[in-house]
Amino acid sequence: MKFHGVVVLSVFFRVSSGENTTFPSWFMFGAATAAYQIEGAWSTADKSESIWDRLLHTQPSLVMDHSNADDACFSYDFWTRDVEIAHEMGLQMYRFSISWPRLLPTGFPNQISSIGKSYYGNLIDGLLRKGIQPVVTMYHWDLPQSLQELGGWTNPLIATWFADYARVLYTLFGDRVKYWITINEPLTICDGGYSKMAAPYLDDMKISNYLCSRHVLLAHAKAFRAYEKFRKQYRGKISMANVFFWFEPLNPEKDKEATKLAMQLWEGRFGHPIYSKTGGWPPELEKYIAGISKTEGYNQSRLPPFTPEEIQLIKGTYDFYGLNHYTTRLVRKATRKTAGDWPFYGSKELGVTFVNHPNRRTIVIDWFQIYPEGLRKQLHWIKDNYEVKDIMITENGLPMLRLDLADYDRVDYIKKNLEQVLLAINEGVHVMGYTVWSLIDSFEWITGYKLKYGLYHVNFESEYRLRTARESGKYYRRVIKSRSWDES
Ligand SMILES: *[C@@H]1O[C@H](CO)[C@@H](O)[C@H](O)[C@H]1NC(C)=O
Ligand SMILES: *[C@@H]1O[C@H](CO)[C@@H](O)[C@H](O)[C@H]1NC(C)=O
Repeated sequence: MKFHGVVVLSVFFRVSSGENTTFPSWFMFGAATAAYQIEGAWSTADKSESIWDRLLHTQPSLVMDHSNADDACFSYDFWTRDVEIAHEMGLQMYRFSISWPRLLPTGFPNQISSIGKSYYGNLIDGLLRKGIQPVVTMYHWDLPQSLQELGGWTNPLIATWFADYARVLYTLFGDRVKYWITINEPLTICDGGYSKMAAPYLDDMKISNYLCSRHVLLAHAKAFRAYEKFRKQYRGKISMANVFFWFEPLNPEKDKEATKLAMQLWEGRFGHPIYSKTGGWPPELEKYIAGISKTEGYNQSRLPPFTPEEIQLIKGTYDFYGLNHYTTRLVRKATRKTAGDWPFYGSKELGVTFVNHPNRRTIVIDWFQIYPEGLRKQLHWIKDNYEVKDIMITENGLPMLRLDLADYDRVDYIKKNLEQVLLAINEGVHVMGYTVWSLIDSFEWITGYKLKYGLYHVNFESEYRLRTARESGKYYRRVIKSRSWDES
């Protein structure tokens, strides 16, 4: 009897803790990069300056290692190697971005670069030949400088300019591209761009960041609507990619409301207008910003309202939800005076502080904590709060300082996150696929070449930017082959 009990118990534990480690056949594995971070060739042929080119040529010292991406990984020249790497790992999708100033040097469709067109056309064809779906980001932060001079994302006309650019993309590549991401991380574009964390590196977190938020949403919506003409023929899917940390209250009662508001500022600002049943700004956030605007003496809310027509224009402009997930933080209510600032956008605005969990591992950056369950909770949150049926994880990755190939912490991070993704799927959240940030080491914005995210190491000393698989790249290859995360 005793023996029998032990056997039964161990079988029970294997089944219950365990879980089915195998991903459904439709689930897609991918990895991502972005144009400015890998291409180099910043002034080749008729390519014009982007806001990042301009920023880092004029203020190189704001990058940790004073570097820039003039050359980066030379992917403009060695893109076939990138496709080969994607193929080596067996990726089903590769997410990359198109450089707006490379394709449209004036920013407008009056001049379509034939060299830019053939570069991206070749990359797309190269991927398709290997059976890899291109997932194409239209805007990953490299705005043509000429458009910045017209006010960039604070000018409402940018919505039309962006839709014109999108129409060019559908016309040139829509026959082959089935997954489009209009805009990557509006939060970083607007709050980063106007808090001196990202180009255009301006300092106005009162007005500009919210004008930008409004126009990013209108630009996305117009680009989405512009696809209607192509949809029947090409049958692609479109969304944008939102970044948000998973937030939990430090004190479950005291900090509950502050946590909700932080979520609305980070995610709801961009998610609610598109994915919710009612559309428009999230009501709690709208009310909160209107209230403080008033106390500050403004006659209108700093979060500029949408017209009823605009609410309808933006609502429902998605085929899936694109999620960039990195980490989880705890939220503590503070006052607007005592709240900390970067890297936690909005903490001053909301009067909240973001803190680390005492029992979770912090890695490389002082705010990057390991908490894989956060991803699963976040997936459920999206499903519960919105009308969304399908979610694609468009980025997930671990920054490391390692220059070598033994990135076992990253193996562990990916493994544990994949486990949570599969648990979420088995709990009824429809996650279409998972994308590692990033395929190869690249230029990581203001951290330069210090932080490495690559599944493949890049030797930036070598003329050919030699790329070599890390342990994480090898692990990911085994995962994709077996379609199970349980591969060590
Ligand atoms: C595990 O999940 C996969 C994908 O959904 C399925 O094909 C397989 O039959 C499952 N295996 C078990 C043992 O339930
Ligand atoms: C504030 O706005 C209201 C209507 O929106 C207007 O009637 C009023 O004159 C404005 N006040 C100032 C000082 O501009």
